[in-house]
Amino acid sequence: MTKKKTCLLMVATTAAGLLLAISTFCQSTTSASLTGQVSSKEEGPMEGVLVSAKRLGSTVTVTVASDKQGRYSFPQNRLQPGEYSVQIRATGFEMNDPGIVKVTAEKTATVDLKLHPIEDFSAQLTSEEWLLSMPGTQEQKDYLLSCVNCHTLESSVRAHHTADEWVALFHRMAGYAQGSMATRPQLRVGTRDTVVPNPERDKKQAEFMTTISWTPGAYALKTLPRPTGKATHVIITEYDLPRRNAMPHDVILDSHGIAWYVDFGQQYLGELDPRTGEVVEYNVPVLKPNEPTGLLDLELDKQGNFWMGETLQGGVAKFDAKTHKFTTWSMPPEVNNDSTQVNMVAPWHDDVDGKVWLADAGSRDLHRLDLATGKIETIVLYPGGGRGHMTYDVDTDAQNNAYATDMSAQTIVKVDSKTLEITPYLTPTKGTAPRRGEMDAQDRYWFGEYRGNGIGMLDTRTGHFQEWPAPIPLTSSYDAEVDKNGDAWTAGMTTDRVLRLDTKSGQYTQYLLPRSTNIRRVYIDNTTTPVTFWVGSNHGASIVKLEPLD
Ligand code: HEC
Repeated sequence: MTKKKTCLLMVATTAAGLLLAISTFCQSTTSASLTGQVSSKEEGPMEGVLVSAKRLGSTVTVTVASDKQGRYSFPQNRLQPGEYSVQIRATGFEMNDPGIVKVTAEKTATVDLKLHPIEDFSAQLTSEEWLLSMPGTQEQKDYLLSCVNCHTLESSVRAHHTADEWVALFHRMAGYAQGSMATRPQLRVGTRDTVVPNPERDKKQAEFMTTISWTPGAYALKTLPRPTGKATHVIITEYDLPRRNAMPHDVILDSHGIAWYVDFGQQYLGELDPRTGEVVEYNVPVLKPNEPTGLLDLELDKQGNFWMGETLQGGVAKFDAKTHKFTTWSMPPEVNNDSTQVNMVAPWHDDVDGKVWLADAGSRDLHRLDLATGKIETIVLYPGGGRGHMTYDVDTDAQNNAYATDMSAQTIVKVDSKTLEITPYLTPTKGTAPRRGEMDAQDRYWFGEYRGNGIGMLDTRTGHFQEWPAPIPLTSSYDAEVDKNGDAWTAGMTTDRVLRLDTKSGQYTQYLLPRSTNIRRVYIDNTTTPVTFWVGSNHGASIVKLEPLD
């Protein structure tokens, strides 16, 4: 008797309440395109191993995770018939090559995967695991969170420089624009005046750097556990972008389910059709030819048009979704210089007063674009130049009041849209560095605590905060968003892990991503059940879709 027939028999003899559960079970056991068991001599069946399949010549990789019995299974509709290469992620292990795997429409392919431990697995560590492993105090390690913007910490632990060489390196790094990767540096034109010269601090940090040099055995390597239970109920799809040096910073969906992204290093707005993997890119106008290129924030307004922060190009661009034409606004000359960095734009409530808010990380000020006149006014958040502050995100409530994060402290600053009165709100925990977030429909601002390690929420109607610390230190949450079920999601640049928070119990589920992924903006698609999570692999030139199965 085949598996399918067994199922039908059971369904026929079962009470109505159980019918659904059993028929679903039958479907999942019979409709896999590729399945098998992951095991090693050392552990036996292995849970939480990520198994990725990529059809030869395709740009799409699909990943599932093995369950408690070591079983992995790709649903039929996720792998088209063809020849596949298979990869795994399980820190400390490598896979015996299973060769090319054939997937057909008629029959489930079964491939058991055999893993073996490797002695030197240092190349598999995430920045977070390097931070956990290296000697030093929390404060010394905290400093390294300013380095993961452009590359992982692997180059730092392998560098073996002297203290003097490290000081010179710090200065060289400070000269790069934020839209740089190790393989594609961009030099800043002006120096950042937020970087206050401090030779004594540099010397101390340089001395610390000489203590983290890694050679096999220098210190024990600590790794985070593999996913278990709910964290293995997931399907992850990665879509490679055509340009290998693409840096997709923000990814959002339009109302047709098309994923749009902006490039952090170059002037591109891109459009990815998740059904076909096809990509179209548009050239975003250059505003200052002598300055580094790249875009940061990408937002939709109520008309379905796209807005993007042009960072060091010193302005903002709007892309008309129908005509595919760009309109740009440059900052006025009196506030436009080499440090001007318009990262963020908030166009969601322009219907209130015809204004769009902008955040400038260079001057630490907010600006407001009047759509009728095209004029930009400046709202100075920190009189006296704002040294010691770092304005990063701006978001708005239903009255188009603005909320700006101060990443150098623990503050979210409100600007009243009518009176321009400024009110600071301080997170209960000190030094949290609220970085980036999203306002929900109830005017609650959910944000990543970059140095506070977790998710925070400011109820802007009451002024009350709630905070949920992440289960692992130095997670460096960059952004946060709440979904339709009340779960909040965050991720950061150090861990390759996507964190889902049950806000009622405070429990986090940690989904591991298949590859090294420098995560920035997080985005939830609430039109699916369960919800779908999207993110750009900023240093991996791909768009990542994560579908939890429950
Ligand atoms: C704004 C982007 C950026 C930031 C931030 C950054 N780096 Fe780099 N880093 C680069 C680029 C680009 C390269 C490759 C070019 C080069 O070596 O100058 C690089 C290369 C390196 C290398 C390998 C080259 C060498 O000389 O050893 C090390 C080590 C390194 N960075 C350490 C750091 C540390 C430590 C920090 C934090 C203090 C940091 N980086 C912050 C962009 C950055």
